[in-house]
Amino acid sequence: MKPSASNPIVSNFFQRNPHYTPDNDLLLDHKQAHRWFSLLRSSTSRDVYTFENILEGKSGPNVRVNKSGYHMMSSYDYLGLIGHPKVERAAINAIKNFGTGSGGVRLLTGTNRLHEQLESAIRDFKGTGSAMVFNSGYMANIAAISALFTKNDRIIIDEFVHRSIIDGLKIIGSIPEKFRHNDMESLKELLEAGSSKSKTVIIVEGIYSMDGDICPLDELIPLKEKYDAVLMVDEAHSIGVLGNTGKGVNEYFGIGADRVDIFTGSLSKAIPANGGFIAARKEVILYLKHGSAPYIFSAALTPSATASAIRSLEILQTENWRLKKLWENTCVMNCGLTAAGFDTGNSNSPVIPVMMPDSETALVVAKKLFDRGFIANAVIYPAVAANRARLRLCCTSAQRPIVMNDFIAALIESMTETSVLSGFFTR
Ligand SMILES: Cc1ncc(COP(=O)(O)O)c(C=O)c1O
Repeated sequence: MKPSASNPIVSNFFQRNPHYTPDNDLLLDHKQAHRWFSLLRSSTSRDVYTFENILEGKSGPNVRVNKSGYHMMSSYDYLGLIGHPKVERAAINAIKNFGTGSGGVRLLTGTNRLHEQLESAIRDFKGTGSAMVFNSGYMANIAAISALFTKNDRIIIDEFVHRSIIDGLKIIGSIPEKFRHNDMESLKELLEAGSSKSKTVIIVEGIYSMDGDICPLDELIPLKEKYDAVLMVDEAHSIGVLGNTGKGVNEYFGIGADRVDIFTGSLSKAIPANGGFIAARKEVILYLKHGSAPYIFSAALTPSATASAIRSLEILQTENWRLKKLWENTCVMNCGLTAAGFDTGNSNSPVIPVMMPDSETALVVAKKLFDRGFIANAVIYPAVAANRARLRLCCTSAQRPIVMNDFIAALIESMTETSVLSGFFTR
């Protein structure tokens, strides 16, 4: 029998509560709850719920779920650094020397030598005046937006920016203007329309997390400068990935870091730890240290995560072959998919969407791939628009081209088997 993909917490819930309805639950928003429980019920009953697979060990190109081995096709571990002995040693030593927790928030008692070292390393790597770290990339975006901007500013975002940016804007009560994804003409039209607001802010990402295309920073910078706007770039997926030495989207375009006002990013993707950062001018970082709530009111990054990030930053600079291999693998995957007739959108990075006709197909195909030994994430609404469901693949330097080719063959088989299925859960 094929192993079930479903997370046991979800499947057990429906076994024990087969007639559950959220209608009488005062805590839940009924419309949303019906959507989620309908998806959960129908996808677990058909065993196509492949979310939250429980890995039995480290992530990496090969993982174990339910005692079986799988090829991982959707991990953010772009440089294959999860499990690197030096990173693990750094984390273990950090626990020995600094303990498991930081003991406080950064401004009070939580700052230790490792935080200082990591912030200096990020500052030097990004080439900005200063840097500061947070518990996650999500927090870094919330921190930057909520401390630096207000609803009286005019905020213009790419329509596909990450949820953490949207949530940061919600916190300040801003209703952002959106330009069409990566479309600089659309941005220009908005900028030209002028504004009576105190400042204009543009927010974009280096690599878009769901579409895998790169922000055209070379076209954006002249616009930002002409219209005197502030520019914030989220490098969650581009740090360690773009540019000859992985410094990010500005290195990729040969643009000095000083022409971007604020960089944010994650330490949980190419850098396989946890945490996030803001890199900017010294004055901005000093201001944020006293003005951003996630820094002041949340305990400092753990010593093990901090040390892992420091060592990973070192390794990604000394083991540049990883970056080269990442891009070779990206080429194998994207070229192979395209040659086989799949739509990978405008991806030109290791994040590769494989567009699906609808959410149902995305779920079923992800399960069929699971049965064939591959983990490839289905991404459906609300992570993407309801009509833009996809599998979201992430290439890493640790994958083997032969496995990628096997994956493409498995995808073709899975799609062929799936084309008759549709409409099994209500939207
Ligand atoms: C563009 C973008 N920004 C921020 C984040 C949040 O980063 P983290 O997972 O470190 O919270 C993500 C997460 O995937 C992301 O894709």
